[in-house]
Amino acid sequence: MSISIKTPEEIEKMRVAGRLAAEVLDHVRPFIKPGVTTGELDKICHDYMVNVQKTVPAPLNYAPSGHQPYPRSICTSVNHQVCHGVPGDRRLKPADIVNLDITVIKDGYHGDTSRMFYVGEPSIQAKRLCEITYECMWLGIAAVKPGGFLGDIGHAVQRHAECHGFSVVREFCGHGIGLRFHEEPQVLHYGKPGTGINLAAGMTFTVEPMINAGKRDIRQLADGWTIVTKDHSLSAQWEHTVLVTDTGYEVLTLSAGSPPRPAVLSQP
Ligand code: MF3
Ligand code: CO
Ligand code: CO
Repeated sequence: MSISIKTPEEIEKMRVAGRLAAEVLDHVRPFIKPGVTTGELDKICHDYMVNVQKTVPAPLNYAPSGHQPYPRSICTSVNHQVCHGVPGDRRLKPADIVNLDITVIKDGYHGDTSRMFYVGEPSIQAKRLCEITYECMWLGIAAVKPGGFLGDIGHAVQRHAECHGFSVVREFCGHGIGLRFHEEPQVLHYGKPGTGINLAAGMTFTVEPMINAGKRDIRQLADGWTIVTKDHSLSAQWEHTVLVTDTGYEVLTLSAGSPPRPAVLSQP
């Protein structure tokens, strides 16, 4: 297997899928309040994807090798949950932080994006973790250009996270995306500049750093999916799907409700 270079026609379909994935997050945002269950958020997103957008929720029944089929349409990862949190009866409460990760399929192509949301008022520490993680994602994205290296992305993410005293989860990474949910290459969120494969125009992949307030170690819950921090410290994640262009990058998962690019990008 090798890294696919998307044609202009495929790129147009990736733009549509990417925008639709982001619009699911816009749609669900007002429902993320104290008292709502993660299962209710899953249903709101599922119904919007299937009935309004006519998209397919990619996570539902997704079964990579070594995993049982994923039972829901989105991932909801709360507080010390790192990723792949399975929606259920858990009720969100004030000061929780939650990641909603949406992947839609439209016309055969995948769009994959996630954001952090505050339930009521976050603690100062939780807010800082979410903000720094957002900056980490964007600094990784900003390292994307043809002729650049995969390791440039990981390095930019890791440097920013660690200089703020946070740690980078190693076991999960960004990924190529297109006709398949998870394609080559693996996009590590740590590494050295100038290492790894060379980036070329037409590649599409995600940048989705998982950053922990405490140690980087994780473990999987008995549900076979949910990943949590071993030390129960808070964890945050943001995700965009990105295209390598002739001059740099294009973010494919933007929508009207996307938060603005962080100020750290325009600093020297
Ligand atoms: N959306 C996740 C990612 O960013 C993958 C979720 S797989 C699932 O790669 F099965 F848990 F949904
Ligand atoms: Co992804
Ligand atoms: Co995702």
